[in-house]
Amino acid sequence: MIDDTETQENREYWEYEPSSQPPYLTPNYKSTVIRSPNKPQYKLPRTLTETTGPLFTQDDLVADEYDLSVNAKGDAAIGSLMVMDGFVTDEDGRPAANTLIELWQANSAGKYHHLMDTRDAPGDPNFIGAGRAVTDSEGHYRFMTIKPGAYPVPNSGNYWRPPHLHLSLFGRSFMSRMITQCYFPGDPLNELDHILHGVPDVDAKERLIMTFDPVVGVHEHALGYRFDIVLRGRRATPMVG
Ligand SMILES: [Fe+2]
Repeated sequence: MIDDTETQENREYWEYEPSSQPPYLTPNYKSTVIRSPNKPQYKLPRTLTETTGPLFTQDDLVADEYDLSVNAKGDAAIGSLMVMDGFVTDEDGRPAANTLIELWQANSAGKYHHLMDTRDAPGDPNFIGAGRAVTDSEGHYRFMTIKPGAYPVPNSGNYWRPPHLHLSLFGRSFMSRMITQCYFPGDPLNELDHILHGVPDVDAKERLIMTFDPVVGVHEHALGYRFDIVLRGRRATPMVG
């Protein structure tokens, strides 16, 4: 339980609750076996490089990079259209303006546009599955895309990843870089997902599941999902890379 009576006086930032983040090593999530540290960690000194950049603005994007649902020629991807909409804030609810958000995902058949994805599932020539957006002064962002399909993880005993979206965010600086995934509410595969359940804290786990929100959808065109993201701090969105 977060104690809101605590003051931030003399604090540079709130530390996250350890149980809100997955351990570096989650054996059921095979990537962590390779990438988790096996030597003691130490803190890097903070310099201007880490605390003041990189800086992004809307001008760094090509128009319509937020829209994954059509290719560069305007041809439509196959799948159920959806809007992903939300706000990025810091640990105290202040907007994280000019945050670059990179989104990548599988197509509607659960196949990635990637050489490593050799599964026997159809590709979609009109869907690369990658987009970018930069938050405005209120920390607001919006993507238009198609709902990704579930996919089986090879040699895993028929373990299927639930539909999910991958996100990378740069906040005010490299210090607030975040890589995570978000999920769809009510999907039965969520309960079986090793990555989602690598997060020990139940409330923190819930913060990785989008909210169905017709208000942010497009009438008779696209379903709407809301996903608010907190960079760092006690209410930080868990980082599940
Ligand atoms: Fe994935």
